[in-house]
Amino acid sequence: MSPLMQDVARVLISEEELQRRVAELGREISEDYEGLDPLLVCVLKGGYMFLADLTRHLTIRHAIDFMAVSSYGDATETSGVVRILKDLDSDISGRHVLLVEDIIDTGHTLAYLMDNLRVRQPASLNVVSLLNKPSRREVDIEIAYQGFVIPNEFVVGYGLDYAENYRNLRFVGVLKPEIYAAELERE
Ligand code: IMP
Ligand code: MG
Repeated sequence: MSPLMQDVARVLISEEELQRRVAELGREISEDYEGLDPLLVCVLKGGYMFLADLTRHLTIRHAIDFMAVSSYGDATETSGVVRILKDLDSDISGRHVLLVEDIIDTGHTLAYLMDNLRVRQPASLNVVSLLNKPSRREVDIEIAYQGFVIPNEFVVGYGLDYAENYRNLRFVGVLKPEIYAAELERE
């Protein structure tokens, strides 16, 4: 077994399930945004794999851009503090913007981003999130498109990391608790 796989307790969403759902989302978004030339804004780093697969299922004209924010450091709990590490290259005023997220947990990161982008007066602003952990929500957020609703467990893979590892896994898996036990003990 590979060193990364050894740290995974179980597969939550398989590669096949992910690919099927991402293809569906691509079809849905292609229909809804036909003729609107949307700008897909990927929230780095976690959203990179989802964006890459999602856009390959889009049949419409669209552009992509990236934003990087930090909210967690290496911890598994939100700090509530969001910092913009990289801003958009493009001007979004009058554009149809679709934010591409890996996961919505407490909602703090997304709430901050939405407020920040809304000020720039896009024609519309929606969210597509691969994963949704509603049991942890602290801020109310409207999610136009979501891949999967998941239980309250810390997951890695398909872009999602723990301390910058595991992003390359082709599935979404639950990390063994002993991997972050040391961090829990420090709290
Ligand atoms: P929120 O602000 O609590 O909604 O956190 C959003 C961000 O926290 C996500 O974009 C992820 O980067 C990270 N995050 C939340 N839950 C998980 C998880 O289960 N695994 C990996 N990263 C997570
Ligand atoms: Mg993220």
